[in-house]
Amino acid sequence: MTENSSFNSFFAQTLIHWYERNKRELPWRETKDPYKIWISEIILQQTRVDQGLPYYIRFLKTFPNVKTLAEAEEKTVLSIWQGLGYYSRARNLQKGAKQVVYDYKGKFPTSYDGWLNIKGVGSYTAAAVSSFCFLEKVPVLDGNVFRVLSRLFGITEDIAQAKNRKTFWNKAMELIPANQPDIFNQAIMEFGALQCVPKSPDCERCVFKTQCFAYQKDVVSDLPVKIKKLVRRSRFFQYHVYYYNKQILMRRRPSGDIWEGLLEFPLVEKDHLEALEKKPKPATASPFIFQSDVLKHVLSHQDLYSRFYVFQVKTKTDWNTLIKKHDAEVVALTVLDETPKPVLLTKFLNAYFYPYFSIHK
Ligand code: ADE
Repeated sequence: MTENSSFNSFFAQTLIHWYERNKRELPWRETKDPYKIWISEIILQQTRVDQGLPYYIRFLKTFPNVKTLAEAEEKTVLSIWQGLGYYSRARNLQKGAKQVVYDYKGKFPTSYDGWLNIKGVGSYTAAAVSSFCFLEKVPVLDGNVFRVLSRLFGITEDIAQAKNRKTFWNKAMELIPANQPDIFNQAIMEFGALQCVPKSPDCERCVFKTQCFAYQKDVVSDLPVKIKKLVRRSRFFQYHVYYYNKQILMRRRPSGDIWEGLLEFPLVEKDHLEALEKKPKPATASPFIFQSDVLKHVLSHQDLYSRFYVFQVKTKTDWNTLIKKHDAEVVALTVLDETPKPVLLTKFLNAYFYPYFSIHK
């Protein structure tokens, strides 16, 4: 496409017109409340809209404003977040809420630069909140927007490299109308999510068909350029489930790894799949009851293979020995559902543990 201001304004108006006719009705689009927009944008990072929507609704029901979030117990925040992954997002969200309530007297920043000071808020979220709520002219650059700009304008720089952000930032800045940065930003993201999709977009029915660089040059499937190699890692977890008197032993996950701070059963990590087969020997004479199949659980960068071995502890003395040995916490079955834990454990409990003990949920 050519670069001039009349073209830029044609582009923005065509895009906004498309948006008005095609947008999804989403609750965070019906508000200018920075708290709600902030929550929605953090939830929607690395999460699809249909997956994030129920979390958004539940989160706001539990923490209707920044004060309730700041004052909540971290474990309550994590339990609402259960299943969304990337739990540091939830922790940072709460740290950000505390900053707003205790450092800023409950007042949210009103500018892009101000939002960058909030814990867990990067360039994308700062741009989203400051443009949607305060109409600041700053581009939201998420994966959808990179793709739209790259294809429409033939930008071939590698979007995985931070140094190329500037090119996309500048192009977006040229396009955003000063009086509608909020609608423009929503529109370009929605256009990427619904029309200019990663695989097999329906270019025949696109409003930019005649202007789009990628379509005209037949390079739609080559853009955007993304050269980052994703290395997947396989891991093999052997879980020891100790059961005594309607209680179970759990440990807190360490920092610097997946599921930081969540609770799980005592774990021995093995270095290959076959090693999961060898039945563990508990520190006490606790009878082995049953084992699960190997459960495969897929995270964004890791494939986890896990087998759970269940032991029924017989005496209080053995129980205390195991608590000590594993540096564990005792969790009653009655509160297990609300205990912040990886979804993998919920899968195991529902498929194996509860049925075995005829516990009806
Ligand atoms: N993904 C990230 N932010 C979004 C928003 N505001 N609307 C729709 N999808 C999104």
